[in-house]
Amino acid sequence: MEATRAPVGSPFHRCPESWPRQSHLELGAYRSAAGSARGHVAGVLREWGLRELVEPTEYVISELVANSVLATEAMQWLIRPPVRLWLLSDGAAVLVHVWDAIAAAPQPRVAGPEDESGRGLAIVAALSAQWGHHWPPREPGGKVTWALITSA
Ligand SMILES: Nc1ncnc2c1ncn2[C@@H]1O[C@H](COP(=O)(O)OP(=O)(O)O)[C@@H](O)[C@H]1O
Ligand SMILES: [Mg+2]
Repeated sequence: MEATRAPVGSPFHRCPESWPRQSHLELGAYRSAAGSARGHVAGVLREWGLRELVEPTEYVISELVANSVLATEAMQWLIRPPVRLWLLSDGAAVLVHVWDAIAAAPQPRVAGPEDESGRGLAIVAALSAQWGHHWPPREPGGKVTWALITSA
């Protein structure tokens, strides 16, 4: 397992001091979480003066949170773990981190014209300058899927 692990980190880990604006939200891993995450994005990015990034970030967060909820609810839990969301900004770009308790990596698919699903990560890739995932090296395990959203 260890050999296949992605390098730890997103642009935040490479240069933490570049991301002074930070917001964190923990959501129950239920179907309503993507809508809550969108509302959170709209409020925080407006407060940060990044109105033009609200729409793409809402799309990206919807897809990432929906995926985390689906992956979490597919497992049997005594107590269902939450989905955790971080918004980070350097004043120009937004970096989104979404943590879930599932170690399995996101698997981008090529959806055919008849497929009703399988496009979420393609949307994330299209709207992000970069995206990826990593496994936190220590507790609580799980993984973080991240995306960097820049203006044009
Ligand atoms: N957070 C995640 N945890 C585990 N697997 C994931 C996660 N996100 C995506 N995946 C995997 O990647 C696949 C493709 O995701 P996506 O492109 O959003 O399509 P869809 O969600 O419609 O299947 C999912 O079906 C799932 O197998
Ligand atoms: Mg999806």
